[in-house]
Amino acid sequence: MKHSRIVGTGSYLPERILTNAELERTIDTTDEWIFTRTGIRERHIVADGQFTSDMALEASKKAIEAANIEAQSIDLIVLATTTPDRTFPSTACLLQQKLGIINCPAFDLQAVCSGFVYALATADNFIKAGAAKCVLVVGADAMSRITDWTDRSNCILWGDGAGAVILKASDDHGILSTHLHANGNYADMLTVPQGVSNQEGSKTILMEGNAVFKMAVNTLDAIVDDTLAANGLEKSDVDWLVPHQANIRILQSTAKKLGMSMDRVVTTVDKHGNTSAASIPLALDVAVRDGRIKRGEIILMEAFGGGFTWGSVLMKY
Ligand code: ACO
Repeated sequence: MKHSRIVGTGSYLPERILTNAELERTIDTTDEWIFTRTGIRERHIVADGQFTSDMALEASKKAIEAANIEAQSIDLIVLATTTPDRTFPSTACLLQQKLGIINCPAFDLQAVCSGFVYALATADNFIKAGAAKCVLVVGADAMSRITDWTDRSNCILWGDGAGAVILKASDDHGILSTHLHANGNYADMLTVPQGVSNQEGSKTILMEGNAVFKMAVNTLDAIVDDTLAANGLEKSDVDWLVPHQANIRILQSTAKKLGMSMDRVVTTVDKHGNTSAASIPLALDVAVRDGRIKRGEIILMEAFGGGFTWGSVLMKY
């Protein structure tokens, strides 16, 4: 059976940086409170007229360049987002048009902060089934557009950005296993109630922060165990943890579970905030480009988000 392997990564952050110091001027908060509780110092915010597909395009162009492939050789686009440009067509189709690739299948995938892990698992299975050979997998979100900027317990968390990878069929190493879960019983704990068919309720994020925090920590602990057991690996076999960047305290807890020091955890939450589906590919791209992550190393990616959804991908990079 063929494996799938990441052959190029790319990412994009909007120019505008919103610091905690600026938030101090608009809501009743302090840099110290935000940093102590979340590990966040600043986040990037999309410009007026800039959409999720624009960020996805910039990240994708960099991933295509890093993979040293022609855009035309992409035979599937899977784009994870909670903040699509339009109700339809999908942001994946808009990205496809901007990239000038015609005919390959393209679709969006919605699993909120677990979106990239879901998208990578989906692309991996397309490749294993022989249905695709070269997949563009993107996580892109403009969370600032669904944030209530007067809600101090919530707005401090979110940021905008995009990350992308090129996943290719390979006889060599690559993705070792993927693990996806969801439990819709928790739909109301982290939600934007108003959608398309339901036009009632808030249009911005509602979250029971404390409860989400506890669920995230416990669930991620369990999925780390499951992922290692499925591969017959020990905690010490993992070289890098590339987690969804929700809150530094959640990252620290997963690292502790793995017996891993924080210098083996790729951490971008301080500068990016929580960029939802974009956070893992953004972090991966940062650590690949600065030379920390090297070929042949074992990488564990994991995420938890609205739904609830959660999942992991273990790969030999
Ligand atoms: N500045 C100052 N004080 C604040 C702020 C703020 N920005 N926000 C809340 N407070 C106050 C509260 O009012 C409360 O005051 P009180 O004790 O007088 O009532 C106090 O600080 C403590 O509030 P808590 O909500 O208990 O703070 P907590 O330590 O839980 O931190 C936070 C809140 C940061 C939101 C945390 O719960 C968290 O990170 N949760 C997880 C969120 C998460 O990961 N979500 C994303 C999942 S991914 C996805 O799919 C979208």
